[in-house]
Amino acid sequence: MQNINIKNTDMKAIVLTTIGGPENLEETDIPIPTIGDDEVLVKVKAISINPVDAFARANQASLNFVYQLKGDEQHIVLGWDISGVIIQTGVAVRKFKTGDAVFGMVKFVGQANGYAEYVAAPAWQLALKPDNISFEEAAGATMAALTAWDSLVIDGKIKKGDKVIIHGASGGVGHFAIQIAKYFGAYVIAVGSAPNKDFILSLGADEFIDYKTQVFEEIITDADLVHDSVWSDDVRHIERSLKATKAGGILLSLIVPFDNDFLAKLKAKNVKGYRVAVHANEEDLNAIAALLATGKIKTHVSKVFQFREMAKAHEHIQSKNTIGKIVAVV
Ligand SMILES: NC(=O)c1ccc[n+]([C@@H]2O[C@H](COP(=O)([O-])OP(=O)(O)OC[C@H]3O[C@@H](n4cnc5c(N)ncnc54)[C@H](OP(=O)(O)O)[C@@H]3O)[C@@H](O)[C@H]2O)c1
Repeated sequence: MQNINIKNTDMKAIVLTTIGGPENLEETDIPIPTIGDDEVLVKVKAISINPVDAFARANQASLNFVYQLKGDEQHIVLGWDISGVIIQTGVAVRKFKTGDAVFGMVKFVGQANGYAEYVAAPAWQLALKPDNISFEEAAGATMAALTAWDSLVIDGKIKKGDKVIIHGASGGVGHFAIQIAKYFGAYVIAVGSAPNKDFILSLGADEFIDYKTQVFEEIITDADLVHDSVWSDDVRHIERSLKATKAGGILLSLIVPFDNDFLAKLKAKNVKGYRVAVHANEEDLNAIAALLATGKIKTHVSKVFQFREMAKAHEHIQSKNTIGKIVAVV
């Protein structure tokens, strides 16, 4: 396979100088990564930004875990969600060739070093970008889409006719969750705030509940599945979601882990609880690519930042008011 020559040995990357605010993200020249036998080198076109990027930037324990920090790294470069074009393939790679346009969530958890011009990615963590979508849309359909898929399809075993509550409906994960649930033939009750109602309904939700003025667990008490992605100051949010789940139903928690007390409550109501943890999976990413290719799901990109504006993108994602996905273009 013909590899494309790169003249430079350095590339631009957004480096985290120290744990702290978005201003600690600095554009710096660092060496282009080398690839392993089962990896490809991607010339990055777009990067999507997730809440976890901002947590890891600001919080040592979070960085230690999601970046698998060892302490001797020359540079810390956040970012896991990319789209781009393959310019080199490792000797063991059969799946792709140079010139292929691809997208995926790379090395999560671990050191993908995604905020960069070039990323070394395991081939199995990438899928071909469908021709009908942009690099921005492809970059957005990575961690958020895989999380919605893991939650509803893998853990939730969603099926036709299920009554499903989607919290955080207007956000990155939520907007994919609505579309995936509708694809499987579920009845979707989406929880969001009034300014995003039209957007949420346009994604196919059957009902809308405004979390600022309505009490969802008083309106719905018999959901087959509840997808809870809300980290609120009110620690009882997951308890409220349990109230909305029917006996025999499934509660999917994207954030709150279950303690023994809560596990006992799940058992008492005969509800299965899952703490969803997104992970790369070739089959799931290919399923998402197929839905994107046929227009069954779409990425809503609400904001595009320039690469050098990564700090601004972090300010945006940490507002917790993101609509759909935000991306940076390289
Ligand atoms: N477990 C995992 O593997 C995993 C993977 C990915 C993400 N996550 C977590 O899941 C959460 C969602 O991720 P994301 O990428 O979708 O975040 P996001 O794009 O920032 O979305 C946030 C959305 O949540 C909405 N929201 C906030 N409070 C709400 C409430 N009480 N009820 C309903 N909606 C509410 C916001 O709408 P308004 O502006 O209307 O408030 C906003 O649209 C994050 O905390 C993230 O860290 C977990």
